[in-house]
Amino acid sequence: MTRFGHFDDERREYRIERPDTPLPWINYLGSDEFFSLISNTGGGYSFFRDARLRRVTRYRYNNVPLDTGGRALYLRDRATAEFWSPLRQSAHHDLDAYECAHGLGYTRIGSQHLGIEAETLFFVPFDDPVEIWRTRITNRRDRAASLSLFSAVEFCLWDAWDDATNFQRNLSIGEVEVEAGVVYHKTEYRERRDHFAYFGCSEPLAGFDTRLDRFLGPQRGWDRPLVVERGESTNSIAHGWAPCGSHHVSLELEPGESRDIVFVLGYAENSRNAKFDPPGSQTIAKAGARAVLARYLEASETTLAFAQLREHWDRLLEPLQVTTPNAHVDRTVNVWNAYQCMITFNLSRSASFFESGIGRGMGFRDSNQDLLGFVHMVPEQARARILDLAATQLASGGAYHQYQPLTKRGNDAVGSGFNDDPLWLVLAVAAYLKETGDSTILDEQVPYDNAPNSESTLTEHLRRSISYTLARRGPHGLPLIGRADWNDCLNLNCFSETPGEPFQTTENRHGGVAESVFIAGLFALAAGELATIAERAGRTAEGTQLRAARAEMQAAVREHGWDGSWFLRAYDYSGAPVGSAANDEGQIFVEPQGMCVMGGIGLDDGRARTALESVASRLATPHGIALLQPAYSRYHVELGEISSYPPGYKENGSVFCHTNPWIMIAETIVGNGDRAFDYYLRINPSAREDIGELHRCEPYVAAQTIAGPEAAEPGEAKNSWLTGTAAWNYVAMTQWILGIRPELDGLRVDPCLPSGWDGYRATRRFRGAEYRIVVRKPAGRAGRATALVVDGRPVDGTLVPLAPAGTTVEVELTLA
Ligand code: GLC
Ligand code: GLC
Repeated sequence: MTRFGHFDDERREYRIERPDTPLPWINYLGSDEFFSLISNTGGGYSFFRDARLRRVTRYRYNNVPLDTGGRALYLRDRATAEFWSPLRQSAHHDLDAYECAHGLGYTRIGSQHLGIEAETLFFVPFDDPVEIWRTRITNRRDRAASLSLFSAVEFCLWDAWDDATNFQRNLSIGEVEVEAGVVYHKTEYRERRDHFAYFGCSEPLAGFDTRLDRFLGPQRGWDRPLVVERGESTNSIAHGWAPCGSHHVSLELEPGESRDIVFVLGYAENSRNAKFDPPGSQTIAKAGARAVLARYLEASETTLAFAQLREHWDRLLEPLQVTTPNAHVDRTVNVWNAYQCMITFNLSRSASFFESGIGRGMGFRDSNQDLLGFVHMVPEQARARILDLAATQLASGGAYHQYQPLTKRGNDAVGSGFNDDPLWLVLAVAAYLKETGDSTILDEQVPYDNAPNSESTLTEHLRRSISYTLARRGPHGLPLIGRADWNDCLNLNCFSETPGEPFQTTENRHGGVAESVFIAGLFALAAGELATIAERAGRTAEGTQLRAARAEMQAAVREHGWDGSWFLRAYDYSGAPVGSAANDEGQIFVEPQGMCVMGGIGLDDGRARTALESVASRLATPHGIALLQPAYSRYHVELGEISSYPPGYKENGSVFCHTNPWIMIAETIVGNGDRAFDYYLRINPSAREDIGELHRCEPYVAAQTIAGPEAAEPGEAKNSWLTGTAAWNYVAMTQWILGIRPELDGLRVDPCLPSGWDGYRATRRFRGAEYRIVVRKPAGRAGRATALVVDGRPVDGTLVPLAPAGTTVEVELTLA
């Protein structure tokens, strides 16, 4: 058992004790427009709003060794000419001591080497598009030290895709200016760009460099830059090639003396008609950037900005804090899972160490689901996100599968036709209404495909989501799958024989009848939500209609979507079953087992329980619930991308974590708290910390996938951070296992706890009131709530009525 670090629950940090984690263990900086990825050795990159179109620093994909490049710092002892990197990355010298603490929106990397301590705090403050590095150097020797400190970043020429491919142009266009020790990166500023980047330092400089080739020297990498080795900058000015920014600061430190040096990496925009100063010149107008720099180069301002950031996170996490008998639950719910939900809110699936930041934009289904995990923290932003998403919906009710964050327009290259997409919007809006009670959102006028004059109310958008599904049903009355449903890789109309052809956007055959049982379950869930919304708005007839449509869909699933011991997954192009005992491989899929139960199917005829038993006996593994069994061992042309993955990986039978919470929720619906909790722990990253060498990904955030039973190394996680697992795990634990569930008329408190627990405590801020919840139960007993007491008075059922904003409500629930 190797541990690479530990949780510091008090400070809400994960502290990495060694630099050689199995993979770069990363964190995110930034909460609004300027974002950075930062690994435990300073790797990663920064961007403004859009990881592809406004990339500030360069990232080299498929690095060897992994995670080279990014932020570089070097210390050099002038007396001995020894040099090292206090971030550990870049220079391969072993440090005498190293620690990286990832916190909420900040990362601190500290080290000691040859008696010199260096600790750098990285964060993106709240108000400005800058990344701050505050480096504190302390001389722990018993004699004075003469040191050189070098910084370095490599600039990206803005469009990260072009930057990584279009060398015939790009090696000629790089431009910089250096003024008062600040490096300004201004490639393409002379023509159509009105933005630039800059890299400043709080200290007088002994020199600088902006040419990467000069800084590194021929035949060298980041491990031993020539400039650092020689201890002398060359004051180079980049023309083309690779522009970088490097400062050289000389330090004389008495024994015990500390110095703080601040570096600021920033992004700035000017208005087009005032971008040069003096006007008519080609020199960047720098007044705006200078003002921002001046602020953060002041140590006290940096301290203040950091304190504000910490307060911001404390505030965000406040709405729900729990104390349970399980430490994994507490730190996951109170800190890391909520944090991960905010990261998926900001970045959807665009930029991680597994998502290049040049591919995907904001996913329609992804962002709608992500919202379930962050709506209580940032309700106003959730509202805005819903309206952005709805504005990319098509008039047909269908949806662009993705939109670009910079333009907020649907992405034509990926297009639409993923037939589950529109239904997720209904779930997101329902969650928003339950959390906030703000029904004005339903009357907002929202366009289709962002087209002017196409507006209708958001309510009408939701109706079209429903009618889109109803209008696209196959021979069994089940929804047609289109390009794919939630499972992007189940492409039943694709039939690809051509290498490299995109499975998800290619339809080689038309007129098929491929149907999805999963979408049917999702429809039942969404139609129920919309019926309630309609009824609440007084539209009883519409509510009745929606309930009838829901019942009809549920009946279609009962009739044609049941395989005997579990729900079928789909019917393929030619009407053959997928996910059936009749198949050789892929006999049972997890998604419909969770979603159909959540959609209320099988609750009255025992099928829900039977399906969940099948999940337990056929899909559950020690590392979580596999997506399907047995995994496909060969390529099935009629199924699309799914069987293109080797068995046990990704959609072909890994533990695709996103689906696991659906099963947890379903287990609580049938009253099985022990099983729900057991499944929760199997994929909980903190609970897997002890098997870090196998798990490999960060122990503080969920990963998209964990290798399944057929894989070479079952239990190995991949694709950490940007996954719908974050939101759904949060929902499964907080709303269904702990049972604290916002509803339109109040706060439901209906836990389904593991029998070993004796209860829990929680505070939940909900519509402006604070609910202090105490749940008690005898350890060793399962079962549901029997007695609810609100402010000392018994209340029937489990719904705590709405309290006026500003009040505190004492909620006591006893399970017999
Ligand atoms: C990825 C996608 C998500 C999809 C899932 C399953 O996580 O972002 O949209 O549902 O894979 O294919
Ligand atoms: C791949 C992945 C899937 C993801 C999709 C996004 O197919 O397997 O998880 O959703 O790409 O385009």
